Amino acid sequence: MAAQDKTPPASTPQPGAAERPLHVAIVMDGNGRWAKRRGLPRTLGHREGVEALKRTVSAAAEQDIRWLTVFGFSTENWSRPAAEVAELMALPKRYFESDIGRLEREGVRVRVIGRRAGLSPELVRIIEDAETRTARNDRFFLNIAFNYGGQADIADAARRFAEEVAAGRARPSDLDERVFASFLATAGSPPPDVIIRPSGEQRLSNFLLWEAAYAELVFQDVLWPDYGAEHLKAALAAFAARDRRYGAIVADDVLAAG
Ligand code: IPE
Ligand code: MG
Repeated sequence: MAAQDKTPPASTPQPGAAERPLHVAIVMDGNGRWAKRRGLPRTLGHREGVEALKRTVSAAAEQDIRWLTVFGFSTENWSRPAAEVAELMALPKRYFESDIGRLEREGVRVRVIGRRAGLSPELVRIIEDAETRTARNDRFFLNIAFNYGGQADIADAARRFAEEVAAGRARPSDLDERVFASFLATAGSPPPDVIIRPSGEQRLSNFLLWEAAYAELVFQDVLWPDYGAEHLKAALAAFAARDRRYGAIVADDVLAAG
């Protein structure tokens, strides 16, 4: 059966105190409000958001995080005004033009997850170039969700599995959670330990719906363009204070229940 990625799935999470997350995911939100507060056009908020991304990638690597997945553009963001969509579409080029050389040298593997259909051929070429240049890196994994939607990705995965069945390469009974996850855009990444959303909004907005099953959620009152190392540290401290049980109970409570 041809799964999307041959990387073995991450090991099953174990209950216990959360310490350092392996995989951090962030909804980069609040660019528009940041700009509005300064009387600036929203586009400038998005450009400042790219600067925050640069700071946060460095800060995450310094904090021994191995995987960082950021939400850049959702399948629903197409409904914004055309000029704003155009600005958002220009951001990957802006980011990679300034940073891809450094990411490549520093051992970062870049993957852009989301639907390629709908993106301009030039943007697809820029994305593929960034992925190819960093394909052999394995020190730090940066996933950029762009034209991504959790529901779209689940539907796409279901369609790909159905195609395997239709082609006679898989049987319906082959499908379990592990096999299904191998068809998702995030195949090969462990699930996020923590999903951070700045800007004060408290929702997932169609980000990593399947993968979020046991993620801790951290909401922070800072707009994304202001985000940096200190905010990431605060989010990690909040995460470290959580008690992760994955539906089980902790050892002390097993004794108490006995
Ligand atoms: C995040 O900032 C960027 C994207 C979602 C594309 P927003 O543009 O959502 O900023 P707010 O929420 O309007 O402040
Ligand atoms: Mg927003």
